[in-house]
Amino acid sequence: MSKIEIHNLQELIQQNYPQETVEKMLQQILVLSMQVKQDYPDYRNWFLNTQVPGLYDNTRNIIIAHIKERIVGFVSLKKTEEEKKICTFYVEKGFRQNKIGTILVEKAIEYLEEDKPLITIPLSKLHEFIRIGERLGWQITDIKENLYRIGIPEVIVNGEQRENDSLLLPTKSLKKTWRKYKIEKWKQLSKNITIFRIKSNNKTCN
Ligand SMILES: CC(C)(COP(=O)(O)OP(=O)(O)OC[C@H]1O[C@@H](n2cnc3c(N)ncnc32)[C@H](O)[C@@H]1OP(=O)(O)O)[C@@H](O)C(=O)NCCC(=O)NCCS
Repeated sequence: MSKIEIHNLQELIQQNYPQETVEKMLQQILVLSMQVKQDYPDYRNWFLNTQVPGLYDNTRNIIIAHIKERIVGFVSLKKTEEEKKICTFYVEKGFRQNKIGTILVEKAIEYLEEDKPLITIPLSKLHEFIRIGERLGWQITDIKENLYRIGIPEVIVNGEQRENDSLLLPTKSLKKTWRKYKIEKWKQLSKNITIFRIKSNNKTCN
């Protein structure tokens, strides 16, 4: 693979990198983001009106992995007194499993000065994060059923710990919690199927 370089946009902007080049990069990042955020309500608007201005007022940053002009992965970040968060983390499919994700997270942690930043991940993608998250001691703190999209559970990692949550405690491991959640959901689903069967068996024809 050609040489992968890592840069962060806040630094490039502060070093007076040409505005036109920065804008081209932001455009590429937005296009890449749409691979995973296309059905998040108002993502484009959020990116252009919140994430991009944050690069200029030092509350947000985007770290990119690129091969020459082509961005192949990025992590977008929020860093304020109140919150240190990974907003989006993405590596292009053809470039995965090459440690790009690992390097981006390391750089994100360095910038955020927080090794357990808040991040939310769709449940269906959680397996892709497990090796990275387990190594860093990340913990699932909640699973919200309809946070951004109806019917697509979103896993909250490194958030505020809910007390006495039978699903999430005492198991804190990312992998174990994920398995436990899937099993619980499967049990729920099969219970519903049984109820449904019983109901439909009880139905009488008019
Ligand atoms: C998660 C993601 C960034 C990982 O990027 P990557 O460049 O492939 O990561 P790495 O090559 O550094 O791999 C890190 C570890 O995860 C493992 N891994 C990567 N993809 C995996 C997968 N699909 N399933 C299981 N393990 C996986 C690697 O084997 C590696 O393990 P190791 O460190 O023990 O060798 C990438 O898969 C991705 O962009 N997924 C979609 C992200 C998404 O949905 N974002 C929106 C919410 S923020």
